[in-house]
Amino acid sequence: MSATLVASNRGPVSFVLSEDGSLTMRRGGGGLVSGLAEVVRGRADALWICAALSDGDRGAVRPAPGGRLDHAGHDTGALRMLDIPQATFHRAYNAVANSTLWFVHHLLYDTPNRPQFDARFRREWESYRTYNEAFATALAEEASHGARAMVQDYHLALVPAMLRGERPDVRIAHFSHTPWAPPEYFGLLPDDVAAELLEGILGADHAGFLTARWAGAFMDCCEKVLGARVDRAGRVVVHDGRATRVGVHGLGVDGGALWARAREPDVESHMAALREAVGDRRLIVRIDRTELSKNIVRGLTAYREFLAAHPEWHGRVVHLAFAYPSRHDLPEYREYTAAVQRCALEIEDEYGTADWDPLILNVQDDYARSLAAYRLADVMLVNPIRDGMNLVAKEGPVLSPRSALVLSREAGAAAELGEHALLVNPYDVSATARALHEGLVMPEDERARRGAELAAAATALPPQRWFADQLAAL
Ligand code: G6P
Repeated sequence: MSATLVASNRGPVSFVLSEDGSLTMRRGGGGLVSGLAEVVRGRADALWICAALSDGDRGAVRPAPGGRLDHAGHDTGALRMLDIPQATFHRAYNAVANSTLWFVHHLLYDTPNRPQFDARFRREWESYRTYNEAFATALAEEASHGARAMVQDYHLALVPAMLRGERPDVRIAHFSHTPWAPPEYFGLLPDDVAAELLEGILGADHAGFLTARWAGAFMDCCEKVLGARVDRAGRVVVHDGRATRVGVHGLGVDGGALWARAREPDVESHMAALREAVGDRRLIVRIDRTELSKNIVRGLTAYREFLAAHPEWHGRVVHLAFAYPSRHDLPEYREYTAAVQRCALEIEDEYGTADWDPLILNVQDDYARSLAAYRLADVMLVNPIRDGMNLVAKEGPVLSPRSALVLSREAGAAAELGEHALLVNPYDVSATARALHEGLVMPEDERARRGAELAAAATALPPQRWFADQLAAL
């Protein structure tokens, strides 16, 4: 029985199945997952519940007693992995969570064509319910009397209400790591689905968001869709005779832990290799999952426009763009990756010379190399269409305090960093191109001043604090 439970789709570790049938365990890269893993490891009474995402995960969890990987001898921290049937998982995760809810909250639809809520969607929605039920049941089984359950993200929006039904004694928090859609866009969802999602989260005692803007949008939706009574100043939503407190908990980075990792020898050798490749040229760096919301193509187009407008920079600057594989089960993501690669090739063709490579695009995941790139950056480009927070915008300034930050005003991070960053409208490619130039020519004293402010803001709310504040709010 555990007193503190974390539930999320992705867990702190994953397993890779080799052709010879052996399993290798991988730990989550940076940011939130490793922060949360540390929090859970640090508490004797804590348990993390996640889903098996791959064949490797299923291979690891099937022989594990009660799905407990720690009891099966893996060095995971207290962890139960749920072996949800693959077809159910696929419909819940790919079709509903990532192709519908993610698209709604990030405003990603090409609305003349999509979404289309038909009979097929109803089957997918049924799987989303089943998948949420599996989590609610596992939480109900594992929670000690009066335990606190910390449910994460859009994959698990129905869990709070389901868990409350089974275990009214458990104190429940839900946290949204994404933005929240404004009511007009949230209203694309079928009315009953929209209501069920909101009522699912309102099953919690505390609904957390990364910024006041996303919390406000959630409250607007509660009012408009459910007719709930909303106290915006007090941040309380009352619906069906129950009150849910709405909290704003920004998430930052643990500067000490990040620096400790960034000084390890593998990072140092990547730094040496990158320096070797780019010489003493200035570096514009971006690091993202290849994610529709990250706006990579417009970012590359802005770099191209910058090169066209500033021939004086030819041969003196390199754009390092690390775009890691993401959600390749979705056709939109495969097409987007191809579009990113095409755009990069065009820039290389147009501007590359025998001794100058204007752009280095890398699509292989390598955390150590990302840390190396941060440390060398002169300008960081973070230009998402919309983003819950964006931790790259926070990690960058910590590891490269003299780098300028070009930041989308639609990233949650803009609420905390905006004053010291060069803010851009992510759709305005020309303005982004101008900001890249401004970042490159920014005087050293100004970069140092802004950099110190950015790093301070980025480390103000490390994951431990973020988690402790939510526990306290329960
Ligand atoms: C976002 C979501 C997280 C998710 C992460 C990676 O940050 O808020 O919940 O884990 O993306 O998503 P994926 O499922 O593609 O690993």
